[in-house]
Amino acid sequence: MKNASYGLQPALSTKIQIRRVRSFVTRAGRLSNAQRRALETLAPRFVTPFHPEPHGAKSASARLAPFDWRAHFGREAPRVLEIGFGMGETTAEIARRWPHVDFLGIEVHTPGIGALLQRIDAHALNNIRIIAHDAVQVIEQMIEDGSLDGAHIFFPDPWPKARHHKRRLIQPAFVARLAARLAPGAYLHCATDWQDYAEHMLAVLSAQPSLENTAPGYTPRPAYRPVTKFEARGRQRGHGIWDLVFRKKPAGRLTPIYHIECSPNQDSLRV
Ligand SMILES: C[S@@+](CC[C@H](N)C(=O)[O-])C[C@H]1O[C@@H](n2cnc3c(N)ncnc32)[C@H](O)[C@@H]1O
Repeated sequence: MKNASYGLQPALSTKIQIRRVRSFVTRAGRLSNAQRRALETLAPRFVTPFHPEPHGAKSASARLAPFDWRAHFGREAPRVLEIGFGMGETTAEIARRWPHVDFLGIEVHTPGIGALLQRIDAHALNNIRIIAHDAVQVIEQMIEDGSLDGAHIFFPDPWPKARHHKRRLIQPAFVARLAARLAPGAYLHCATDWQDYAEHMLAVLSAQPSLENTAPGYTPRPAYRPVTKFEARGRQRGHGIWDLVFRKKPAGRLTPIYHIECSPNQDSLRV
């Protein structure tokens, strides 16, 4: 194999990242032949590098180029960010159902990126792009304030041991930064099958002054979020499922895509 990185940058390429507490571990993970082929042929079109050339001169203060939604998708459409899409079942299914919405998925697991590229190909989806990097850095450096109409964080790694709780993605500083990237009225949808993580999410999201809950606490699974195999397995093991949907203030109305598409539990789409 000429290039085992498939043009993807290593998720741990900078000193800053090495010092951070990260929400993921880099797993080797075996690539199937189909995932490898998808990476070789489709990554150049659908995967955007984390470190684009800075604008202007190469001075220390030069800003990284933000992700340019219009240029990547060739249109103006509602914008939804997904963090940690895993094998991409949910991403592809929602993108297939919402062709009028553009999706940016962030993931560090190479086989998962290959799997989503396969799904993009299988369904001829043109409304998904991928960044193969730590979402914490992508949100800090590549996503502009007020630019998102929605954000999905489905079943983030639970880090169940107390000494690992600091590795959980949902933390006050991360949520504050992500909330700044949401447009007024935009939604943030999180889901987990770990009760204590759900309680932590509810506390952290409720404490973020720029967000407000769309429900008295947890919300029923909105119809647009498919039940994945991973989630079904959790249910079989007796895990509960907790969905949380918050919106960015000022609270006028929910962003239209959420308002139109979200009617809780109308169907039980499966992937
Ligand atoms: C438990 S899996 C859930 C995957 C998928 N959302 C689902 O519902 O099946 C969590 C995923 O988040 C990814 N992840 C964790 N932290 C991340 C980060 N900081 N940036 C990008 N991806 C991350 C992991 O690689 C993993 O694939």
